[in-house]
Amino acid sequence: MERIVIFGATSGIARAVAEEFLAQGDELLLVGRSADALKILARDLEVLGGGKPVPWFIWDVLDFEGHAFRFRELISTHDVKGLFMAAGVLIPQKDCDADPAKTTLTFNSNLTGPAAVMGLFAEYFKEKRSGFISCLSSVAGDRGRGSITAYAASKAGLSAYLEGLANRIQHDGVLIQTVKPGYVRTAMTEGLQSMLIASPAKVARDIVKAIRCRREMIYTPFYWRYIMGVIRLIPESIFRKLGL
Ligand SMILES: NC(=O)c1ccc[n+]([C@@H]2O[C@H](COP(=O)([O-])OP(=O)(O)OC[C@H]3O[C@@H](n4cnc5c(N)ncnc54)[C@H](OP(=O)(O)O)[C@@H]3O)[C@@H](O)[C@H]2O)c1
Repeated sequence: MERIVIFGATSGIARAVAEEFLAQGDELLLVGRSADALKILARDLEVLGGGKPVPWFIWDVLDFEGHAFRFRELISTHDVKGLFMAAGVLIPQKDCDADPAKTTLTFNSNLTGPAAVMGLFAEYFKEKRSGFISCLSSVAGDRGRGSITAYAASKAGLSAYLEGLANRIQHDGVLIQTVKPGYVRTAMTEGLQSMLIASPAKVARDIVKAIRCRREMIYTPFYWRYIMGVIRLIPESIFRKLGL
């Protein structure tokens, strides 16, 4: 039985994506760093899926020494047809400025950790000549951002990594998909007020549909493509004054 790995399964967006896959009959494997949270989520999804068991697996994206071992352990017990990568953190820039360890944590959680994990799955899918990796990057990575400098740079790096991965293995039957959400209502954006904020369910529908259509890059909701198109055209001297 082939499963879709949901990495960072406790994320607000990932949970909605898991529900969408489940509704379409897919089998899942939930991955995260907290056994308690995964157990609760697995039970909820099991009920939603009509009693079908949903297994879970502990894996911390920051466990660099353990990645190869965890990966081998996972694929020796499960047949995998796709990876949805959602792990990430948004640490306020002022905290990164006050403590360089927070900048390092931002890059390791959003870029180097996910890249190390996705690299292992990419080789596995390449060997199988099938499969997909869909990863949550962000519109924030489309420009250098003063207000969220470390977060935006980590997402810019992540988008570039995914583009490179796609270029490398696109002829091997593997889909590498970069997802660039705008604002989504989750724990990460708690307290944020914006007319543009989308529900995780809406974003999840877009993502799963785009995987079925084998699209390599999506903005979600769709209008962020146009917003970012305009934002990318703003000259640096003006962009700087906007304080974004
Ligand atoms: N919400 C937005 O507006 C928005 C917009 C654009 C992109 N994104 C991206 O979407 C992704 C999901 O975000 P979200 O909004 O759903 O936020 P969220 O609910 O805060 O989810 C973040 C997820 O990352 C996991 N995570 C963090 N560090 C980890 C680690 N060391 N190992 C394993 N998992 C780890 C968290 O696990 P724990 O539960 O164990 O902490 C949680 O599952 C992130 O990459 C984020 O940057 C979000």
